[in-house]
Amino acid sequence: MYTDHDRFHDIASGLISAGYITAPGRVIKHGKEAAVLCCPAHPSLGVEHVALKVYRDQSFRNFRNDATYLRGKVWKRRDLGHLKAFKDELWVETEFRVLETLHAAGIRVPRPYTQIDHGIVMEHVTAAGDDAPMLKHVRLSPEDRRRVLEEVLEAIDAMLGCGIVHGDLSVFNILYDGAHPVIIDFPQAVYANTHDDPYPLFRRDVERVVASLAPAQAAGAAEIAAELWGRHYVVEARMMS
Ligand SMILES: Nc1ncnc2c1ncn2[C@@H]1O[C@H](COP(=O)(O)OP(=O)(O)OP(=O)(O)O)[C@@H](O)[C@H]1O
Ligand SMILES: [Mg+2]
Repeated sequence: MYTDHDRFHDIASGLISAGYITAPGRVIKHGKEAAVLCCPAHPSLGVEHVALKVYRDQSFRNFRNDATYLRGKVWKRRDLGHLKAFKDELWVETEFRVLETLHAAGIRVPRPYTQIDHGIVMEHVTAAGDDAPMLKHVRLSPEDRRRVLEEVLEAIDAMLGCGIVHGDLSVFNILYDGAHPVIIDFPQAVYANTHDDPYPLFRRDVERVVASLAPAQAAGAAEIAAELWGRHYVVEARMMS
């Protein structure tokens, strides 16, 4: 049987041969859906380390409400016999392409380097030379918290400007590099232009970050979401209910 361990081994050897990393590295986090490692980068990349996110084989079954996130994705024509394999790839490809788009637009996300099988190589986000912590675990002064919320809302606005809704945004999927928030974890992102009902996902993203970073403003989060949405798309009456 081909296990997650075999897959990881193959991905790491592939990346070593392709000249992205020089060794498999150490685990930063072993999550339910993916393992993220810090690997020594090949000198040609000009950085010391990169992050390697490898999805588990089982992970794709765990994505909540598959259908919600699959709607509007462009499905390439492939042999239907390979549907499961293809669905698996879709999540990895979505994360990689979204990172490419957002990074090119100057939004603070890890710079993506390459995707190979179920693995993505991206910039290793650090804070004071260490792995950057999740925003959830960072203590900020009230002033910094307000600024960080402002920056996250600006990033949400800029992402929507690229037609992208994160779809699972929270202080667990935002890292803090000591100065600024860096948004991560995009496999479930949706394209606002092709998804038939992206607004509830968008609003939930906004509501969650406002609730965590400015609880006193939580009651006004729906209004903030509508205002941001209205900068790019039409706000319909039903969205406000
Ligand atoms: N580019 C990166 N640089 C540094 N650390 C990272 C990077 N990407 C991910 N991490 C670390 O790995 C963790 C998990 O990453 P991510 O949120 O993308 O995966 P996940 O599928 O949500 O995993 P989990 O099931 O653990 O939530 C992050 O919380 C962070 O600690
Ligand atoms: Mg995550």
